Amino acid sequence: MTSALDVVRTTDAEAATWWRQAVVYQIYPRSFADSNGDGLGDLPGITTRVPHLAALGVDAVWLSPFYPSALADGGYDVDDYRDVDPRIGTLEQFDDLVAALHAHGIRVVVDIVPNHSSNRHRWFTDALAAGPGSPERARYVFRRGQGPDGELPPTDWTAMFGGPAWEPVGDGDWYLHLFAPEQPDWNWDHPEVREDFHTTLRFWSDRGVDGFRIDVAHALAKDLSEPLPSQADLRAPDVLDGMHRFEDRDEVHEIYRGWRAVFDEYDPPRTAVAEAWVPAHRRARYASPEGLGQAFNFDLLLADPDAAQFRRTIEDNLALAHESGASSTWVLSNHDVVRHATRYALPAGTDLPAWLMSGGTDPAPDLERGRRLARAATALVLALPGSTYLYQGEELGLPEVAELDAADLQDPTWQRSQGTEKGRDGCRVPLPWTAHGASLGFGDGPAHLPQPAWFAEYAVSRQEEDPTSTLALYRRALAARRRLQTGEQLEWADDVPAGVVRFRRPGGWTSMTNFGPAAVPLPAGRVVLSSGTHTDDELATLTQLPGETTVWLETTTA
Ligand code: NOJ
Repeated sequence: MTSALDVVRTTDAEAATWWRQAVVYQIYPRSFADSNGDGLGDLPGITTRVPHLAALGVDAVWLSPFYPSALADGGYDVDDYRDVDPRIGTLEQFDDLVAALHAHGIRVVVDIVPNHSSNRHRWFTDALAAGPGSPERARYVFRRGQGPDGELPPTDWTAMFGGPAWEPVGDGDWYLHLFAPEQPDWNWDHPEVREDFHTTLRFWSDRGVDGFRIDVAHALAKDLSEPLPSQADLRAPDVLDGMHRFEDRDEVHEIYRGWRAVFDEYDPPRTAVAEAWVPAHRRARYASPEGLGQAFNFDLLLADPDAAQFRRTIEDNLALAHESGASSTWVLSNHDVVRHATRYALPAGTDLPAWLMSGGTDPAPDLERGRRLARAATALVLALPGSTYLYQGEELGLPEVAELDAADLQDPTWQRSQGTEKGRDGCRVPLPWTAHGASLGFGDGPAHLPQPAWFAEYAVSRQEEDPTSTLALYRRALAARRRLQTGEQLEWADDVPAGVVRFRRPGGWTSMTNFGPAAVPLPAGRVVLSSGTHTDDELATLTQLPGETTVWLETTTA
């Protein structure tokens, strides 16, 4: 039998390039599994569920932040980058989790949040205590307020979660926070800030972490020379690529060249993937081998389940990946967006924040169609060259929870928008592991975000018994992908009916998706996977591809 370490340590070349075509499973730790019944998911909880990840067949796990945090932004407000939140574990329990994952050949990616710390980070509390003009304040972005006593913000900039981007500290100084007020932005011109992040990257690399996901990778470098522009002028027509005061500035890549040097101190080199919201033609810079090495492509999060949109998005992103030398990434769901089983259940063009505000009723979702299309889209992206990032719960086909009560909402978006936008909690509701129990097997007590009763239908325990379940489909697809995936080439088939996307991969592997409602003829080949609910016998005799379904075929001549 192949031992787990054999899987992780294969050849040197493979060990260094594992990320190129990996299936990476994102865990939002506080909502995955709760081992002590306090309602909050924790690291030992994840460790107990490693068999689920192994049975699923993922190559790596990406852990959203598990660091000490007041959870002003779901943990993306980090108090201490080199520790574990005591409510969810200890460093030793982190080591246990890494060991358990590695023992199953699953690599570990952790989230690094370098644009901002939390307002409880020691360097920030030091900065507040030290006062205006102090060296402590120089590590963050403090500016004098306008007006005789600095009582007005330095600019009219607004923050991502709504409200002003500057917060007064009571002595005439204001600090910049592009996100929530509890997330003060670092000053990346400061050498101590740069050095401290190198220390953090080494800290986790030394503990066996294989790679990093870099939060808001595009915003670290800032030109805050005076005069500062107004909000309207930040994006004036003469602000060309790379010239925005804090988004996607060219200097940011110098920071990542420094990080690359740290990654390359390790064997195999540590990997990274950038969360960079930049125009597609600027993405390659983040993904370059001298930089972070890979960058998220979020285009499918915005695409409708439509053949032309999928094909164009795939073509464009493969070309971009080729340009950077990286492989492409594919994402259908994550902790920031409405789950794809629900997006596809709604008419194209639905205003998702408004739909959430309606409690998920207006318009009414067609969940059966959403499930069919989500399964078809997942099977399609799993056949693509590059890495696929899965988000916890999508393997269960979980829909979004749109009916959370205002009193239960945790996303800062809710407060900062004055109750006009619900935010992202609906995709962060803890997973249903069993159909019964206080929180459906998540833990022994109620979950920190309440699960609706209908979550029980989606429980892992139920789906494990059902060969047609979405969980069974993901397991089959990942196993087949592991067997079929070889080179990174893709060849399109153009002689296809309208609404169909078909492509060939090396070794005689064809993927065909019918986005339309009506069945179309299948080409020759052995059907090895269907996103529908076909039995093996049905697959063997399938001549038509039903609507809203993907199949994988093996052909010897392809
Ligand atoms: C992107 C993360 O994915 C999101 O959850 C977070 O709120 C922001 N960055 C700020 O850190």
